[in-house]
Amino acid sequence: MVVAIDGPAASGKSSTARWVAERLGFRHVDSGALYRAVTWLALSEAGDPAGWREEAVRALAERVALSPTAAGFEPLVDGAAVGEAIRGTDVTRNVSRVAQLGSVRTWVNERVRAAGGSHDVVVDGRDIGTVVFPEAPLKIFLVADPWERARRRLIQRLGRHPQEDEIAEETEHLVLRDSKDATQTVQARDAVLIDTTFLTQAEQVDRIVALARARSRVLASDAADAG
Ligand code: CDP
Ligand code: CDP
Repeated sequence: MVVAIDGPAASGKSSTARWVAERLGFRHVDSGALYRAVTWLALSEAGDPAGWREEAVRALAERVALSPTAAGFEPLVDGAAVGEAIRGTDVTRNVSRVAQLGSVRTWVNERVRAAGGSHDVVVDGRDIGTVVFPEAPLKIFLVADPWERARRRLIQRLGRHPQEDEIAEETEHLVLRDSKDATQTVQARDAVLIDTTFLTQAEQVDRIVALARARSRVLASDAADAG
């Protein structure tokens, strides 16, 4: 079973996917972490981002792997875990450039599909329900007001409540990244839209777990009818 969770930056995809996976006994796959790992490697080895060539970035991707862990999967670069290094500002500013490269997208999609082929998974990203797993039995599209997304991202990064001017600046960055990612960030026609602006994280997790359980019951009864 695949649960696909898509949506714009800081809408809550990764943390919600991790939590939903834990509740369902599935594994979490963070597809954005692969784009980030390739970007991190390109920043250290491919020079000025303005001059990045697609073939060179695609060649670097060969050094990135998606490795199983107890709870999910983590990206490795040259066999070593990259941890929080891929969440830095430099990676965040340049990741959309890497995500525009068709051959890198194909490479990421293959890695993510392989993970989903061997386990029940909750996968988060931008195009999981449309491109990577168009047949996923449950698709969620998470959205939230940009100011609220910026506020949450800053709390996550700074570990404190941000000032209004800090939120305003982060909102600018988020809206810009949304526009750079717009082509691939698509709500599938059969996705359930959840606006998390006024929800707690626990509420959105509960909704998705309930939807996943309902979907499993329908699939099981369809299978019984067919048998
Ligand atoms: O956590 P956040 O939403 O900020 O980003 P992420 O999920 O870590 O993804 C980082 C970047 O990877 C995004 O800004 C997109 O450019 C790209 N991405 C994508 O194009 N397709 C995906 N399925 C996942 C991420
Ligand atoms: O993966 P994505 O960039 O979409 O978002 P995230 O990193 O999972 O979530 C950004 C932050 O928003 C995290 O610190 C979440 O705990 C927090 N948050 C949320 O996702 N949903 C709420 N209703 C409240 C807070």
